[in-house]
Amino acid sequence: MKTKTKSPRPRMSVEKMAAYVPGEQPKPSELGRLIKLNTNECPYPPSPRVVAAVRRAAPGMRLYPDPTQKRLREAAGKVYGFSPDRVLGGNGSDELIALIARAYVPEGGAILTMKPTYLVYRTVAEGLGCRLVEVPFTKDWRLPAGLWKQRTNVFYLANPNSPTGTLVPTAEVRRFAERFRGLVVVDEAYGDFAGANCLALARELPNVVVMRTMSKSYALAGLRLGLLFGPAEVISSLEKLKDSYNLSVLQLAAAEAAVLDRAYLKRNVGRIKRSRARLIGGLARRGFRVLPSESNFVLFHLGPKLAAKLGEGPGAVKALRAEGVLVRHYRGEGLADTLRVTVGTDSEIDRFLVALDAVKTE
Ligand SMILES: Cc1ncc(COP(=O)(O)O)c(C=O)c1O
Repeated sequence: MKTKTKSPRPRMSVEKMAAYVPGEQPKPSELGRLIKLNTNECPYPPSPRVVAAVRRAAPGMRLYPDPTQKRLREAAGKVYGFSPDRVLGGNGSDELIALIARAYVPEGGAILTMKPTYLVYRTVAEGLGCRLVEVPFTKDWRLPAGLWKQRTNVFYLANPNSPTGTLVPTAEVRRFAERFRGLVVVDEAYGDFAGANCLALARELPNVVVMRTMSKSYALAGLRLGLLFGPAEVISSLEKLKDSYNLSVLQLAAAEAAVLDRAYLKRNVGRIKRSRARLIGGLARRGFRVLPSESNFVLFHLGPKLAAKLGEGPGAVKALRAEGVLVRHYRGEGLADTLRVTVGTDSEIDRFLVALDAVKTE
């Protein structure tokens, strides 16, 4: 029988929103010939203890996971210096970003963020249909004076920021948070690679939460895990709103094992920081202007001549892909001639630099 019904339309804000476009994830068959430096994953495998924990947990998949995340919250709390009621695990930081907006941005409310920054904040705001206030960083990648006066419900600060890799000093975030009226969300996705962090602010101030992803330094992007630290009142509000079983049996086991294996994390972060210096040195020797990076990626300017020759950022991404290297370009003011490159292993970096030399001279 023919039906006369149509697909219903979603909320206006969803109909109008632009979808977030993630970086290219190549097919497994392409991975052998492509070097993947486009989505800031870890070039090293996860800790063997994490893999063993997942194996041990696998038979438990028949049952629902622990909705209270008890063991993970205790372990992460111990490691990061918070009581368990001040910790929450998410299905990636992205889930936590959306959860915070749903909980703290009322109808007709607003979200504050910086420009350029992580695009998911915009996607979340568009999806909710709330006002998004995007304020440019100062020339030296700091918060402009008076930013705290913005009347918004939430402020998302990626710190270190993406795609720039730059860091706003903790004292400046503190000064902002002490004046701002809304909730300050310091997204420290790259915090393990930085010289400073805002965890102390999440312990001390009633309006600051700090978010850590396990996708980068912990090498668990494929498992989807994020951690949130902050005031118990904020955590308990989010707990009410989250899916009861937002983390699976396997995610919970992996996250607990990962936070407890400090030696493995430290070793990988050390290796990545050393490789970052190698990448920055390689680019600087070739005359490229590189932004100071406190992350596991580097943003650099191709310069007007090379950018024009390759077709700006998008053309350069294509040319490097043809040479077997995936990197990322972001649109935005001042970013037309920039590329963002993830810090891979030393040999991946060397292969990237060879590819860059090749597209320069072609
Ligand atoms: C600033 C920032 N926050 C959050 C995320 C997402 O983290 P997750 O993989 O935990 O969702 C990313 C990922 O690239 C990021 O750059």
